[in-house]
Amino acid sequence: MKNDKKNYKVTLVGAGPGAVDLITVKGLNAIKTADVIFYDALVNKELLKNAKPDTNLIYVGKRFNNHRFSQTEINTLLAEYAFTKNNVVRLKGGDPFVFGRGSEEVDYLENCGIEVEIIPGISSALAVPTNQGIPLTKRGVNESFWVITGTTSNGEISKDIMHGAKSSATLVILMGLRNFTTILNEVLKYRPINTPFAIIQNGTLQNETICIETLENYKNALPKIDYKSPGIIVIGDVVAEHNTFLEEEIQRVLENY
Ligand SMILES: C[S@@+](CC[C@H](N)C(=O)[O-])C[C@H]1O[C@@H](n2cnc3c(N)ncnc32)[C@H](O)[C@@H]1O
Repeated sequence: MKNDKKNYKVTLVGAGPGAVDLITVKGLNAIKTADVIFYDALVNKELLKNAKPDTNLIYVGKRFNNHRFSQTEINTLLAEYAFTKNNVVRLKGGDPFVFGRGSEEVDYLENCGIEVEIIPGISSALAVPTNQGIPLTKRGVNESFWVITGTTSNGEISKDIMHGAKSSATLVILMGLRNFTTILNEVLKYRPINTPFAIIQNGTLQNETICIETLENYKNALPKIDYKSPGIIVIGDVVAEHNTFLEEEIQRVLENY
């Protein structure tokens, strides 16, 4: 691979959580001037309409077991295009450095002598609960929030779910829907059974959904999960701040009366 020239460059751009207007101005400008854009499955395709008509749009998304390119192939493609095109943009959902393998791409490209500019994005971990009016922190309720993967590289749940559940933290779990029952059972070992949680899917998009339950009633949420859509699980007392929580709690009490 060539590494004899100094000004090869890739711009790594965070596309934001989903809504087309939740990308940064800087990220949008990078799309507008790109000659080639490599984009992921969770990038809102509407954003690509901002590209020049002759921009080469290359889908390299990975969802579940449906991988068009392996990570190694993506790294190689990015480098190959960086050596032949001027404005190469790598567009990733949310923030490129939050469970996005962005730093692996940076490492690979820099090892090839390619400069990488990183444009942060609004992570779904922050934007999706906020968009629903669920504060990740509230004075007197919790002192931190943890953003945890619900599925590690070997398919199991992270040990950090146990550590987080032992704290007062709001737990924000990405990629956790397929391990939902295991995760909830783990959290139930350490948190009161009436702790509320929310599953928010397609956050910030037109088809956004939210399901709120308490840990003890987590099975009620199972039929509502759409395993094909992205979703986050938010666990902690801050979920009670959601405007429907009180109403649903009263309904639950009445049903059990
Ligand atoms: C591979 S991670 C990438 C996260 C991304 N880098 C970010 O900062 O948002 C993908 C996971 O993010 C979460 N996610 C991304 N977009 C979402 C959305 N619009 N609504 C709900 N969850 C979302 C889901 O848990 C999904 O499985």
